[in-house]
Amino acid sequence: MTRVAVVGVGAVGGVVAAGLMSTGRADVTACVRSPLGGLRIVRPDGSALETSVPEVADSSAVSPAEWVVLATKAHQTAGAGPWLRRLCGAGTRVVVLQNGVEHVERVAPLVGAARVLPAVVEISAESQRRGHVRLFGRPRLTVPSGDDGADFAALCQGSGIEVTSTGDFVTAAWAKLCLNAANGAVTALTMQRMPVFAGPRIARLGRALVEEARQVASASGARLPEDLADQVVARLRAMPPESGSSMLWDRLAGREMEYDARNGAVVRAGARLGIPTPYNETVTALLEAVSPPGNGS
Ligand SMILES: NC(=O)c1ccc[n+]([C@@H]2O[C@H](COP(=O)([O-])OP(=O)(O)OC[C@H]3O[C@@H](n4cnc5c(N)ncnc54)[C@H](OP(=O)(O)O)[C@@H]3O)[C@@H](O)[C@H]2O)c1
Repeated sequence: MTRVAVVGVGAVGGVVAAGLMSTGRADVTACVRSPLGGLRIVRPDGSALETSVPEVADSSAVSPAEWVVLATKAHQTAGAGPWLRRLCGAGTRVVVLQNGVEHVERVAPLVGAARVLPAVVEISAESQRRGHVRLFGRPRLTVPSGDDGADFAALCQGSGIEVTSTGDFVTAAWAKLCLNAANGAVTALTMQRMPVFAGPRIARLGRALVEEARQVASASGARLPEDLADQVVARLRAMPPESGSSMLWDRLAGREMEYDARNGAVVRAGARLGIPTPYNETVTALLEAVSPPGNGS
């Protein structure tokens, strides 16, 4: 049995914890702040995966694991530091299931000698109440190719989560961030669902946010199509009217939003590369102003 600890057992972490439990090859521990009482994942076809996962709520009670799955929101990473410090030994690998492109910079300082494996998360899921997650679509993760990526894919075999490895992780991560640069910021700032992109001015704003991110991505080595901004906005306009974004749900619920790992990351990379990002800077400032004060939790 492979010893796996999951830190951040919300929507994404819940799907991964339950999937790994179901393989029968992983000894999974859920590292939680308050009790879950088991996991129930409802799949798109209405079938449910129910499982009980051993839970620990005290970080001083854990010891190094073979794999740590970190699936908190990006801004909650520092708050998960006490877990990471206790769970990581020299042979531990930490797979980071978070949005953005700064997985390694964010997590490596917290894990000592453990190795960090970044992942692009395509798990569309909603945490409805503690331990109860609704899954939309087929859960997929993309990791960089190499030994750690191959071992993580093997760990997930039979879990219902498809893990793809790529030799061009830079492009995979930036492609997701370009999409996220527009959808989260615009829906959260306007407090409206995806049909907000039907408006021509909002569509122009969406294209501008994505185009800045694409230019920064290209200068960072990502290979993305020149008409990406048009493609992204067309895709957002075609989404079902009830679709929103996790930043919209967080804003409506009065929770801190994950804007810094998205638009903030575009601004930081742009500044490093000498590429102006005024639209992303503006929405970052606005989101910072309306996001409840961050306490890393
Ligand atoms: N959900 C999606 O559809 C989706 C899709 C693609 C990418 N992503 C990305 O995946 C990442 C995770 O998102 P999510 O939607 O799964 O978030 P989420 O549902 O909010 O789950 C985050 C979990 O982390 C836990 N947590 C936070 N700080 C902690 C700490 N110090 N110790 C222990 N647990 C802690 C929270 O616990 P509490 O319950 O105690 O607050 C919560 O259960 C984000 O980067 C997100 O952008 C999500």
